[in-house]
Amino acid sequence: RKRIAIMTSGGDSPGMNGVVRACVRMAIHMGCDALCVYEGYEGLVRGGDYIRQMEWHDVRGWLSEGGTLIGTARCMAFFERAGRLKAAKNMVLNGIDALIICGGDGSLTGADRFREEWPSLLQELVATGELKPAQVEPYQHLNLVGLVGSIDNDLSGTDATIGCYSALSRVCEMVDYIEATATSHSRAFVIEVMGRHCGWLALMGGVATGADSIFIPEKPKRDDWREEMRALVEKHRKSGKRKTIVIIAEGAQDRHGHKITPEMVKDLLADKNGLALDTRITTLGHVQRGGTAVAYDRMLATLQGVEAVRAVLEATPETKTSFIAITENKIARKPLMEAVQETKSIAKAIEAQEFEKAMTMRDTEFYD
Ligand code: F6P
Repeated sequence: RKRIAIMTSGGDSPGMNGVVRACVRMAIHMGCDALCVYEGYEGLVRGGDYIRQMEWHDVRGWLSEGGTLIGTARCMAFFERAGRLKAAKNMVLNGIDALIICGGDGSLTGADRFREEWPSLLQELVATGELKPAQVEPYQHLNLVGLVGSIDNDLSGTDATIGCYSALSRVCEMVDYIEATATSHSRAFVIEVMGRHCGWLALMGGVATGADSIFIPEKPKRDDWREEMRALVEKHRKSGKRKTIVIIAEGAQDRHGHKITPEMVKDLLADKNGLALDTRITTLGHVQRGGTAVAYDRMLATLQGVEAVRAVLEATPETKTSFIAITENKIARKPLMEAVQETKSIAKAIEAQEFEKAMTMRDTEFYD
């Protein structure tokens, strides 16, 4: 009887509970034991009560819960080999044949490293007498599959990460709220949204709310953005618009790699010798990440969770670490490290101010 463990890692995202529910139930349905590792890699390193067997009813009602009920952490111990040794030992002691990890690119990169090191970790555990050769014998290969849970939608090779549409909905809702008060006072608002180095949330949030202007890292404004924005806002105001909404990604920068802050945009809009608008800054913050998952994320979590269990059951020692993607509405297994490498290349292209290249690599035509 195979034992499949499920874990959530890194920043939480709406839909992670749906993933855990789907994996637990699919594993049981396939005649396997389902286990949950609590608190991400931290739980794998600590073992004991952090690793628990789950039954069908344990995940009842989880689809409509926000965050991740099995906890998550950004674990420092796992960055050290000593931490990974403990994690490997706990996997063997718990008889775990396969591990499904739902997290962002950092968590999934950590997973791939763990898999690569696996044989040498087992060797060391035997050499130091922590485990007996007979104990490690059945676990020669680490069977591992990733699911991308992140509100940022920043991983290459998949159209949507689990949670990004919930965060986008939240951004939209919050901007709608702000618009009512902005119109009442004829004010301008500079709204900062999350996304780390990725402008997807800001861009789609801006498109979905009809913002006057959007700042994203992948397509920095021209050097004369101040003049351009002044003229645009003036035009909108002259046509009778009583509100001005600017959406700025937390990673926004200019063409020279200098950060553009909400304060800089506010200064321009409020400039007494220019537009002289009564301007406020709103940082949406973690409301974007919390709350329940929208229907799309629940569906994605369920379909991808089921596919992840299938993938670990069908894996052979030769199978590369894969992750579950959605491309053109189809659930697909893809090699994990290729997607991680491409994601890193986008970050490098932005850093090197090769914006055209970064936009082409972003997998979405909207960036143009
Ligand atoms: O990756 C998800 C994310 O919410 C980013 O959008 C943001 O930059 C970061 O995590 C915030 O991290 P923390 O919750 O640790 O402050």
